[in-house]
Amino acid sequence: MILDKIEQLLAEVQNLSAQNAEEIEALRLKYLSKKGEITALMADFRNVPAEQKKEVGMKINELKQTATDRINALKEQFETADTECDGIDLTRTPYPVNLGSRHPLTIVKNEIIDIFSRMGFILADGPEVEDDWHVFSSLNFAADHPARDMQDTFFIMRDPADVLLRTHTSSVQTRVMEKAQPPIRIICPGRVYRNEAISARAHCFFHQVEGLYIDKNVSFADLKQALLYFARQMFGPETKIRLRPSYFPFTEPSAEMDISCGLCGGKGCGFCKNTGWVEILGCGMVDPNVLEACGIDSKEYTGYAFGMGVERITNLKYSVKDLRMFSENDVRFLHLFDAAH
Ligand code: DAH
Repeated sequence: MILDKIEQLLAEVQNLSAQNAEEIEALRLKYLSKKGEITALMADFRNVPAEQKKEVGMKINELKQTATDRINALKEQFETADTECDGIDLTRTPYPVNLGSRHPLTIVKNEIIDIFSRMGFILADGPEVEDDWHVFSSLNFAADHPARDMQDTFFIMRDPADVLLRTHTSSVQTRVMEKAQPPIRIICPGRVYRNEAISARAHCFFHQVEGLYIDKNVSFADLKQALLYFARQMFGPETKIRLRPSYFPFTEPSAEMDISCGLCGGKGCGFCKNTGWVEILGCGMVDPNVLEACGIDSKEYTGYAFGMGVERITNLKYSVKDLRMFSENDVRFLHLFDAAH
């Protein structure tokens, strides 16, 4: 009968299972502790006839070993399961995180940079807090040019020298030309400031991208070709351009560029005021006075420059009607551009 008891216990311990550390400890107490069932067999062992002692002793040892092995195995399994966290994914973030989206102006700015970098333009930048020389004087603005007026320019300091917020990214042209000699082929995105009343159509800060190419024999035809390529990449292969004569102090000749209206395909609609054309940028051949002011020999080199408003291009591409949307951080507006990048 002791052998029957041993066999029964053996069958039991071979199939032990547990869900956690407490249950394992309970099994250890049940079978292996001083008051456990296997220890209890020892009391019966005394009554086993001498000729059976060897056989029963070996069986008890086998039982003890099996119970110990099984319980250890459970412990080990539980411990490894613990580090793997029972199928829980430890790489998950602790709370749901919503992905943000790129700002529409950033999307469009990056696209402009991409297009011009495919033509060999490299990025350049300059400070937003500037001085009169870089924003106006070096760019051939007359001393009494109205753009310097308080009504347009935010001045930070007027004495002893003018310190101001740049009103256009053309100041980066001067920054680069002062340091480098041609060939120069740069694209300069950045924020600019003007003292304007804020409305749907104007803001006191906005963004521009400036381009400048200076080398030997750069011509107006080169400018036109680069801008046509840009317009078609940006607004589609059917896009037409036209250049209208204009005036900027830093270019001669100067022009404004229109593209065929993307909404009506050039037929005329409310958006293009029935002209079929919308203006997108200013451009021209760099005035020799500007080259000389920046230490570049205007007899040896010529160049072209252009400047465009990022908000303007974004409005045209995505029909944003109110400029203020760009700086209000309304996530309902920003999420409209999730798919655009
Ligand atoms: N700086 C001009 C503006 O803010 C834009 C511009 C026009 C830039 C013609 C140029 C250019 O480089 O050639 O309105």
